[in-house]
Amino acid sequence: MLILGIESSCDETAASVVQDGRKLCSSVVATQIAEHRLYGGVVPEIASRRHIENIVGVTRAALDQAGVSLAQIDAVAATFAPGLIGALLAGLNFAKGLSYAAGKPLIAVHHLHGHIASLYLTYPELKPPFMALVVSGGHSQLVHVRDYTDFEVIGRAVDDAAGEAFDKVARTLGLPYPGGPEISKLAAGGDPNAYHLPLPHTDGQYDVSFSGLKTAVINLVNTAKMKGEEIDRAGLAASFEHRVVGMLANRLVQAADERGLPAAICGGVSVNGLLRHKTQELCGKRGISLYFPEKSLCGDNAAMIAAAGFYEYKPGQSAPLSQNAFANLEM
Ligand code: KG4
Ligand code: ZN
Repeated sequence: MLILGIESSCDETAASVVQDGRKLCSSVVATQIAEHRLYGGVVPEIASRRHIENIVGVTRAALDQAGVSLAQIDAVAATFAPGLIGALLAGLNFAKGLSYAAGKPLIAVHHLHGHIASLYLTYPELKPPFMALVVSGGHSQLVHVRDYTDFEVIGRAVDDAAGEAFDKVARTLGLPYPGGPEISKLAAGGDPNAYHLPLPHTDGQYDVSFSGLKTAVINLVNTAKMKGEEIDRAGLAASFEHRVVGMLANRLVQAADERGLPAAICGGVSVNGLLRHKTQELCGKRGISLYFPEKSLCGDNAAMIAAAGFYEYKPGQSAPLSQNAFANLEM
């Protein structure tokens, strides 16, 4: 079964063709990062406009690169939630039009189901159940993936998402958007013990909190500025990255161990080298297998949406043309 995936929830316009949820035939991503960087973060209005401008060309390129015509596609899968509402609507409405015009069923896909499905593209043999840490710019959730379409969220970030914390701390350190990769680069040359940052407390066993950590960094930088003191920027970035990664890796490995499941990481933050390394180390000690997506599939893309769509498709059924988009929606 060939599925055309469409993704437009944030600042990437993407289209992809995937066969049977596992084989990537093409994946085209038009990123708007350079433009949003001018403003220090994603500007929703600009994002929606660029999606509308780019979606046709990106989709055509995905079909061309896969060497198939629209007629050969079996279904269209599009992200309908969560994300920036205008951005989501641009991709979803395009997918609706395409589905109607070509007479193909429409599958409405939750963005975080998509991030989890990026693992199926990387590991053709991977099957649920497993414990997944989904870490992106907007979400941090610990999910017991019981089956392809059966998810239990057992922990979450109670305030800022992991990627959001990286982005905000980066801004404080004068680094451009998106902050995750910038913090990582700066931290590589720093001492992770340079600053003793707080270890935030959460009530839920598998919940995490990053807001206090972020505020601690902001206060440290502001106090140093007022006193005219130099900040060890690399040391601060390394101390922050270690704290965040430590919290995420510990929660994931604890949960996987407790439930006797393999572990997985996915989402934009899962490209982080320290997170991969630390989780691998902890899993190794406990004999837990660990999976993470190929780097090109960590950030937003449409291949993961097409892969999730394959598992969510019910023969004979199609999402209605009245299908709406939702900025916030539990998985
Ligand atoms: O999944 P994604 O592409 O978009 C959302 O669904 O939000 O995730 C983007 C997030 C951004 O916050 C970005 O700073 C973060 O992923 N990110 C990273 C790294 N690369 C991207 N965070 C930490 N380390 C990285 N190397
Ligand atoms: Zn995402």
